[in-house]
Parts: sequence; C-alpha cells; structure tokens
Amino acid sequence: MSTPSILSAIQKLRALLTREEKLKWLGIFGFALTTSLLEVVTASVIVVFAQVLNAPETGLKYLRKMGFASDLSPGHVVFYIAIIVGAVYLIKNLIAAAEVFFQNFSIQKMNYHFKNKLLHRYARSDYGFYLTRNSSFGIAVVGGDTEMMFSSGMISIASILSEGVIFLALIGMIIYMNPSLALTIFAIGGVVSVGVVKVVLPRFYRFGQKLQETALYSGQNLMQFFHAFKEIILLGKRESFIEAYQVHARKKAGIQAIQTSLNALPRMVIEILFVGLFVTTIAYLCLDQEAPSQMIGILGGYLYAGFRLMPGLNRIINQLNVFKSVIPSIERVHQEYTVLAAKENYVSVSDFQFNQHIEIKDLSFKYLNTEHDALSHVSLQIKKGECIGIVGETGSGKSTLVDLILGLLKPYQGSILVDGQYPVHSYQWHQKIGYVPQSIYLTDDTIEKNIAFGEKDIDLNRLNLAIDAAQLRKFIDTLSEGVMTIVGERGIRLSGGERQRIAIARALYRSPEVLIFDEATSALDNDTEARLMETINAVSKDRTVIMIAHRLTTLKDCNRIVVMDKGCVRNVTDYNSLQNKVRKHA
Ligand SMILES: Nc1ncnc2c1ncn2[C@@H]1O[C@H](COP(=O)(O)OP(=O)(O)OP(=O)(O)O)[C@@H](O)[C@H]1O
Ligand SMILES: [Mg+2]
Repeated sequence: MSTPSILSAIQKLRALLTREEKLKWLGIFGFALTTSLLEVVTASVIVVFAQVLNAPETGLKYLRKMGFASDLSPGHVVFYIAIIVGAVYLIKNLIAAAEVFFQNFSIQKMNYHFKNKLLHRYARSDYGFYLTRNSSFGIAVVGGDTEMMFSSGMISIASILSEGVIFLALIGMIIYMNPSLALTIFAIGGVVSVGVVKVVLPRFYRFGQKLQETALYSGQNLMQFFHAFKEIILLGKRESFIEAYQVHARKKAGIQAIQTSLNALPRMVIEILFVGLFVTTIAYLCLDQEAPSQMIGILGGYLYAGFRLMPGLNRIINQLNVFKSVIPSIERVHQEYTVLAAKENYVSVSDFQFNQHIEIKDLSFKYLNTEHDALSHVSLQIKKGECIGIVGETGSGKSTLVDLILGLLKPYQGSILVDGQYPVHSYQWHQKIGYVPQSIYLTDDTIEKNIAFGEKDIDLNRLNLAIDAAQLRKFIDTLSEGVMTIVGERGIRLSGGERQRIAIARALYRSPEVLIFDEATSALDNDTEARLMETINAVSKDRTVIMIAHRLTTLKDCNRIVVMDKGCVRNVTDYNSLQNKVRKHA
C-alpha cells in the first residue's frame, strides 16, 4: 500500500501558512544555502591546511596572495595558516548558530500562531459538531498533532534542507576533486535511498498513524481515570481503568521503541558501506600509483568530506523518517483546519435592540449521527418581557429547544428569528442572554472569576448584585477567603447547590435582557429555591425569561407554560390550569 508522499504533505503544510510565514521559509532556505557554502569553504580550508603541513612553501604562496610578508619561516607559515583556518571556522559556526536560532524561533513562532488560529476556528464551530467529539480529540489535535507538525515536521524539513544543501555542495566539491570517489558516494547514496524510500519510509508513516491513535486513546483513558476518580474507587474498578490505559500505553511504548531503533539503523549501514569503500579506495590508490605521503592533502579533503557527509546523509534519512511519521498529524490538522473547523457558524450583525418577540416557526432538529428528530415542527412565539416556563418528561427536547433558541444548534427545517429579522446564531444575540445550563462548568479558579467568567476587569458593583440575587451572600460570608476562594476543578470543592448558584450569579452578572434557566434550581432546597425565585422574579421585571423546571411550583410566576412531549409542543397553558390538571390526575 502506498503512503502519502512527502511532497503532498509539504503542500498541505504550505497551505496552512500565511504569506509572511512562507517568506520566512525563504529566509530559512537562504540561511541554509549560506551555511552550506561556508561548509564547503571550511572543507577546502582543511584541505589547504593539510597541504601546507605537508609542504609549507605552498602556504607561503597563499599568504603572499593575501598580502603577507614573503620571508616567513615554515613554522610561521603553518602558524598563520592555522589562525586563518581557526577564524574561518569561528565565522562559519557563528553563522551556523545564528541559523539554528533563526530556524527554531521562526518555526516555534509559526507553531504558536497556528495553534492560535486553529483555536479561533474551533471557537466558531457549530455546537452540534462539537457534541459529536470527545474532548480528548481536540486536545490531541492542538496539543499533539499541531505540536508534532511544527516541532518535529517543520524542524525536520529545515534540517533536511540545510543538510541536503551541504550534502550536495560537498558532493560537488568531491566531483571536482575526485570523480571516482564521488561516484562511489553516489552509489552508496543510491543504494541507501532506494532502501529507505521503499522499505523504511512507509513504515514510519504507519508508526505515525499508530502513535497518533494510541496517543489519543491513552490520553482519553488518562482523562477518564482522573475525572471518574470517585466512581472508580467506589465501584472498585481501579484495575480495569489502569488496564485500559496500559493497553494503549504499552502499544505506544512498543512503537516508539521500534521507531527509535529503526532510525538508528541507517547510520550503521552507511558506516559499513562508506568506511569499507573508503578504505578500499585509498588502498587501491596506493597500489596503483601514488605514495601515501603525496595523498595527505587530498586525503584530508576525503576525510573531512567523508566524516561530514556520512553523518549528514544519516541525518537526512533520520529526518525523512521523522517527517514521514509526522504526515498523519499534518493530514489531520489540515483536515481539521481547512474542512471541519473552517465554517463560520456564528454571524455578526449590527447591534440591535430586542423589542418584540422571539419567533420560532415550524422548527425541526436532529442531532448529528442520530436518526430521530429531537424536535419536530415546534412553533412558539415568546414576547419580550414574558416569562415562559417549559415542562415535559425527561428526553422530551427541552434543553434542545433552548440550545436552538441560543443559536448553538441549527435546525434543518424552520427558523428562529428575533424581532422578525435577527438570527439567533449571532454574537449580538448571545450578548443579550444570561444562560444557566443544566450542568455547569466551573473553572478551577476563584468564585469571583467564575462569576465574571473570562472578564478581566471585574465590576464589583455588578458582582455584588449578582451574588445577592443568586442567594450566595450567606455562603460567601462563611468563607475565610470570600469571593477569592478557589472552587476546584469543575467546582469540585463546592456543593451542588453552591455550584448552581454560582452559575446563576454568572448569568445575572452580565445583567442580560433575556434569562434562560435550564433546571437551574434543581439542586436547591425548597426555601433557598423560593428565595431565589423571588429575586429572579424581581430582577425579571423588565426581562424576558425562559425557564425549564421539573418542579411545577418553580414556574408559578410564569405567564405561560409550554408542555413538551417527544420533541413536540403538546400544549401551551398557564400555571393554574396545569396545576388543576395535575391534581385531577392525582
Ligand atoms: N448530543 C446529542 N446527540 C444525540 N442525541 C441527543 C444529544 N443530546 C440529546 N439527545 C437526545 O435528544 C432528546 C432530547 O434531549 P434533551 O436534552 O433536549 O431532553 P430534555 O427534555 O432536556 O431532558 P431532561 O429533562 O432529562 O433534561 C433525547 O432523546 C436525547 O437522548
Ligand atoms: Mg435537559
């Protein structure tokens, strides 16, 4: 089976870069050319030095050309030449160091920029799409694949580029000095390349694929292990969860061991081929004509070129392997960035006033990868300033309806418009909404930061109003750190009711025009809920409220109550008639 070519992967990489970044690559290439030229210069300088050692008078010739005094002793000639050689090496390596820094800083900057762009794309992707994903996948793409793509993939291209140019330049030099040696090197290079391209590279592609897979699953298992800690302990499933992680971790370890070992093999093959042929060639030359001493100069060149070429060729092969194993990551990131996360799902409209109503017309919705409609033919008008309650059996589509009103999910049929014209999937609509979800996500931060969620400059006035309205004051007063108390990951250090009230405070903090509560008081005792409902009703005076609740009493101040059943609106009624009906049934 053929694997995707390196060129097509490079094209995909290119497509992910900005114009400026592509120009940077020209810079990287230019640098590579410069250092490789210098590499040739240093190789020749060593040849000269060897010649001078052998016959100082040749050195004198060079020195004269450079304007040195002509009456130097042989020792002085060697001394000066040595200093020049040292200086050339110093300059070359200073430039090589600059190249390395330039290369790494440029690539890591691209890395950071790209992750930023990718996260921005994810941030505008459809919530329905997000629901089909495991969060480990997103973490693997951004933290694993993208990281690989730049830190390994791009660095390896840069190394192949500079090593490749040096390699070609040295080969050029050798062709000039001794065509038969060049031929030998070509032959070795040819044999090794065919082996690498046909046998080794496809393997590395598959290693990459497997590593990608095991990284994802082991990541996912680790996350589950730590998230489900309580359940794991109580259900006595320590072993099976550790085992689940180990299966992938073991696979990953195995692949990495093979990969690293295989990557060491080319060096050995090259060494055998090269040293073997090199030694034979020299022996042959000695037999043929020249005395060993006459060959010192040219031998210096061979030796340098050889000992620089061999590791060079080896590095090129290693980096090709690395690149090939990164191709699956490049493909995934390319796919995510250009296809899956490319669509802009939220729109920006001019800022508007919500004056009249939210109009839901003949709405039908189905979750991705499911067969049945979660909502079908729902029509409803919610007037500004109204308080609407939603009840219905579990699974009847209440949360789904709310997610559609929030513009997070998109109907496949029907429409929801605000004031007859504004789309709900707009940033401007989201601005007007305070939403308390059925399950709350608290960040591992202070109460204050969780209420002001993501806001840098916290408005203390609004913060305090929200805390009072959400019945949090008494609780916060008992804490020695007050609003600066850290709540723990997902609010693990708080009670369910405390978490819920923080979520309510978060919604109120923005003092939104529209409030949406999805079972927002389910974890509260009757008294606290009653008090909370009083304040919610007070703050709701001139606001529009949509409230999902299981306890009918929670909805007693609602103007209308919508009864949902199997994805449809069965009835729109009010509290009293619903209450009577329930009584009759009882
Ligand atoms: N992400 C999802 N993918 C597929 N199906 C889903 C998804 N979320 C919910 N559903 C299904 O859609 C239907 C409606 O779910 P929804 O969450 O809207 O119910 P609900 O009325 O809010 O229930 P509850 O009172 O239990 O919160 C259910 O049958 C549920 O299984
Ligand atoms: Mg729900």
